[in-house]
Formats: sequence, C-alpha cells, structure tokens
Amino acid sequence: MTSLIATSRLSRRYPIGEVSVDALVDVSLCVKQGEAVAIMGPSGSGKSTLLNVLGCLDAPSSGSYMLDGTDVSGLSRSEMATLRRQQFGFVFQNFNLLARSTAFENIELPLIYAGWSRAARRERVAQLLERVGLDGRAHHLPSQLSGGQQQRVAIARALANKPKVIMADEPTGSLDTSVSQTIMSMLQEINAAGVTLLLVTHDLAVASVMRRIVRLKDGRVISDAPSRVGPVKAAQ
Ligand SMILES: Nc1ncnc2c1ncn2[C@@H]1O[C@H](COP(=O)(O)OP(=O)(O)OP(=O)(O)O)[C@@H](O)[C@H]1O
Ligand SMILES: [Mg+2]
Repeated sequence: MTSLIATSRLSRRYPIGEVSVDALVDVSLCVKQGEAVAIMGPSGSGKSTLLNVLGCLDAPSSGSYMLDGTDVSGLSRSEMATLRRQQFGFVFQNFNLLARSTAFENIELPLIYAGWSRAARRERVAQLLERVGLDGRAHHLPSQLSGGQQQRVAIARALANKPKVIMADEPTGSLDTSVSQTIMSMLQEINAAGVTLLLVTHDLAVASVMRRIVRLKDGRVISDAPSRVGPVKAAQ
C-alpha cells in the first residue's frame, strides 16, 4: 500500500535578517491512510512547522512532499489551497472559531467555500452538530460555549468537507483532563472511521492513545515508533 503522506528530506528554513532558523531539517516521513500519529518534542522543535508544511499551510524550503501521489512542491499557491480544502481539516489549541459567528455558521463556512447549496449545507451542518454532540447549540456564539464545546465545533468544522486527514495542533492544550479525554475519544472515533490523524501534543497521556509517536528535536526526527500503550483496537 502506498503512503498517503511521503516526505523526503523535507526542510524549512526561516530567514530572519542575517541569520536563519532551521525549523525542520531533513524530515523523511511516511504516513499511510488511516494511521494515527502523535508528533511530540520540546517547544521550538518544529512540531507546528511540520504540521503546517504537511497541511499545505506552509511550503518547505527544500525536500519533496508527495501527498496521495501528487507532488506538492510542484503546485502553485492556489492549487495548494484547493488541495488543502479538499484533503485536510485543521484543529488548533485555541479553537480558532469566528467569534461573531454561531456554531452553525462556523461549521458552515468551509461548505460555503466549497460551493454547497444552502439546503445541502443545512443538512450537513445538522449532521455534524449531532456527530459532535452539540445539536442543541447550533445558534450559540463561541463565547456562549465551554472550551470543550468550542473544540467540538472546531472538530465539526474540520470534518465538514470530509477530509482524508485531520491535522490537530495541541487540540487538548487549553482543556482540563476530563474534557481532554472527551476530545481525544472523539478524534479516535473519527480515526476509526478511516480519517488519518496527525496530532501534535506535549502530553504523553494524549500521545499514548495514538498508534505511533514521532519525536522531533531541533527540527529533526529523533524517533519514530509505535506507542507502547496504544488503543486496544491497535493491538488486535
Ligand atoms: N514564522 C516564523 N519565523 C521565524 N521563525 C519561526 C517562525 N515560526 C517558527 N519559527 C521558529 O522555528 C522553530 C520551530 O517552531 P515551531 O513553532 O514549529 O515549534 P513547536 O515545536 O511547534 O513549538 P511549541 O511546542 O512551542 O508550539 C522555532 O525555533 C521557532 O522560533
Ligand atoms: Mg507549536
């Protein structure tokens, strides 16, 4: 089976005046469809940079990136944006919801960009709200929701376009332990339904529910191994 994501010696250098920061150095990584991968490492080790490059939010300085057989480095910015909308859903630590838009409107936005009709959008958003257990909260603003509920809206929004991959950067970083477990169960369910999951975390308990842990240090992969605990399903 070919990899969904395959990078070879991917690097990202940020030039800052005379000096430059090597945020990613020679990262060669393969991820198959349906995998659940945790990305760990100290602050500044390149975790977010890696997720951003893999998610086509940022372009590498050198190296190659094949996504589902497409050479991403050969694409224009607008082709990259189209690919990003079709293939990825993003979830962030601070939820990144539009503050003046309701839960419904936040989830609807990617569907508007993708050209869905009003009726189809209404049906899809209702389905997504139900999937994340928020059917009673459609018309609430983010400020009227708890942190865990806001993150569930963000997850529903990430799922709207039926992405192949969910990229989550510290999705539980602003949540307490029990809410964090709820969010992780939800992400695991989504993964079990076939969506590939790449998740950055500082928290070993969070990383342990993923099947594979990639560790970065100073922009390099220093280990890539199955997680020791892992979900029960992964052991079968
Ligand atoms: N836009 C930028 N311009 C210049 N340097 C940057 C930029 N973004 C990140 N860096 C640098 O690249 C390195 C990797 O940053 P990155 O945000 O990927 O780390 P991280 O592992 O996600 O850290 P954290 O755990 O704190 O979120 C850091 O040294 C950082 O200072
Ligand atoms: Mg980061």
